[in-house]
Amino acid sequence: MPESLTDTPEVQQLLRRAAGLDQPGGDERLKRIVHRVAIEMCRIVEEFDVTPTEFWAACGYLTRLGQANEVGLLVPGLAVESFLDIVMDEKERRAGLQGGTPRTIEGPLYITDAPFERGEARLDQDPEDGEVLFVEGQVQDTAGTPVPGAIVDVWHANTKGFYSFFDPTPTPQSPYNLRRRIETDAEGCYRFRTIMPSGYGCPPDGPTQQLLDRLGRHGKRPAHVHFFVEAPGFRKLTTQINIAGDPLLHDDFAFATRDGLIPELVRHTDPAEIEARGLNEPFATIKFDFELNREAANLPEAVVVREHAKAE
Ligand code: BEZ
Ligand code: FE
Repeated sequence: MPESLTDTPEVQQLLRRAAGLDQPGGDERLKRIVHRVAIEMCRIVEEFDVTPTEFWAACGYLTRLGQANEVGLLVPGLAVESFLDIVMDEKERRAGLQGGTPRTIEGPLYITDAPFERGEARLDQDPEDGEVLFVEGQVQDTAGTPVPGAIVDVWHANTKGFYSFFDPTPTPQSPYNLRRRIETDAEGCYRFRTIMPSGYGCPPDGPTQQLLDRLGRHGKRPAHVHFFVEAPGFRKLTTQINIAGDPLLHDDFAFATRDGLIPELVRHTDPAEIEARGLNEPFATIKFDFELNREAANLPEAVVVREHAKAE
């Protein structure tokens, strides 16, 4: 047997034909990518002596992953979504871009068209027993100049770690619970009231968790809040802030925690402060300013086009 069957002229020719490389027309770049994928699959079969039974089990797994709508879960779970961020960071660095709030993964749980508010918003529509959290800050350029009219699109999980629209519980949340788009005011400021989120966990019986189990890994995320921040003339920012003190802060199954995205969480127990907020129990605050980079012609595209669900 030759050392590598994949490298034999017969198989090489087969794979070139499979990718359409022997045909005119079609998309040349896609042909090259498909060709590489086919070659790597063949090499894996050879190197790991993958049996046909194992191979078809893997195909069945991918089918179930798609049917369960969990492709967007496994991709970050295998660190590939973080890798896309690493690549974008490096392209920007090479293009001379410096500063700005770090990006981190979007994840699969955004929906479009959350209610729009000016300056401030309350995110928790559905009553829940949870710690009240106030978040506020300013959108700035990298020189610290405020950016009025920026859109801060925010979404996060509820106290059980579930996102509205994707909530599998018998009493799901309202479609836009814990989701808002907030326009920064004349000083570039935004603020919102919400409840403290819990970390998300992969569906325990789903295909993503099934694979993670076999890798000896958990499928949980630390508590976090997602943001898209955009303004005319600036690069769109996709990011998250983590809730400081979460035990999984540096053990996120989706590898999204980054330096610069763990703001201080302040707990307020002073009765006067509680009363001033119109509350009757302690609450927490986070201050977080976003720094946006200005758009420039030589930079890689910052807007990621991705399919998103729509609530109605
Ligand atoms: C999340 O943002 O909650 C999330 C990100 C990646 C995978 C699953 C969930
Ligand atoms: Fe999330």
